[in-house]
Amino acid sequence: MASGKELMALLPRLSDLVKREEIQVNKLIADAIRTKGVKKILTELERELKGLNDIAMDVLSSLAVGRHVLIMGPVGIGKTTLAETLAEILHISEPPYIEVACHSHMTATELTGDIDIAVALQAGLDHPLAYIPGPLVMAHGGILILDEINRLNPYSQAALLQVLQEHYVFIRGFKIRSDFLVIATSNPAEYSGVYELSEALADRMKVVEIPYPDKDLLKSILSWKSSLYMEHLGLKAPDALTEVTATFMTLVAQDSNIEVGPSIRSAIYAITTAMSRAWLEGREVSLNDLKREIISNMVNVVRGNFASETEKKDYLARKFDEAVMMYRRYSRR
Ligand SMILES: Nc1ncnc2c1ncn2[C@@H]1O[C@H](COP(=O)(O)OP(=O)(O)OP(=O)(O)O)[C@@H](O)[C@H]1O
Ligand SMILES: [Mg+2]
Repeated sequence: MASGKELMALLPRLSDLVKREEIQVNKLIADAIRTKGVKKILTELERELKGLNDIAMDVLSSLAVGRHVLIMGPVGIGKTTLAETLAEILHISEPPYIEVACHSHMTATELTGDIDIAVALQAGLDHPLAYIPGPLVMAHGGILILDEINRLNPYSQAALLQVLQEHYVFIRGFKIRSDFLVIATSNPAEYSGVYELSEALADRMKVVEIPYPDKDLLKSILSWKSSLYMEHLGLKAPDALTEVTATFMTLVAQDSNIEVGPSIRSAIYAITTAMSRAWLEGREVSLNDLKREIISNMVNVVRGNFASETEKKDYLARKFDEAVMMYRRYSRR
């Protein structure tokens, strides 16, 4: 492990930062794609995510021409995983990307970094602790992942816009060059509690939308990921569980009264916790275990026109029973 002194030596100094040269990040991306090959990139992506190759091609084609990307889609659909995995595979810098988990109270200086006047007065402006760069400065020459960019308040959005427009971050009069490409993620507008993305910022990004997967894709994601998360228990998700869950999710997501459908994440949790509970009790898992877990994991995720939580739970239970009936009818054939 590095000592404090060694760590300090790794921190950039203001006098070096102001001398930074331009880096053509789009060229780095294009070179990485050329070197690795599109086929290999997609094969590596498939180790993490299923069915998102076409979306990934949209992301890559934008980055290759220097356009920032905004990955949009409902909760738990793979947005963050897609952004991180692609940046990891391209690996155009070290570390392969800088990530910010955006939130509504984020200040502009959290993004840019600020000068610590006390340190600067005592040790000089060039002391490594006088200015600790924020992510907008650290991302120079690489990819900046802005996770949940729609949570960013208008002040922080303005700071971001400035660097995207001018390629410089201004720190109390000091001008620091910063070239990077953004992969942002966001939920669609119907999710409450988030800010509108300013038009100017949205205009600088290519929007790539991840659609809700169809039933077959859902089923194969569920059986793959659930089994993966239960490998250490020696458990594998049985076909009945993944089939019923995927059918249930599709029924709910296609219902016109539903605004936000069940997420893949909550479905994986439902299957794995139902199975882990049965495992603890030393018995086989049942569809009733699954029903209980589906309702408790999804009641806070699914949104629609419900008068109360009880009404929502009843609705989920009814849809689950419908999915079980469809499964039984299908398996009798
Ligand atoms: N297409 C997919 N293939 C495989 N796994 C998936 C897919 N979509 C989602 N998952 C799994 O679902 C989980 C949630 O993914 P992730 O966190 O990337 O979603 P998200 O869209 O960023 O969610 P949120 O809106 O909550 O931020 C992860 O465990 C991920 O592996
Ligand atoms: Mg996410």
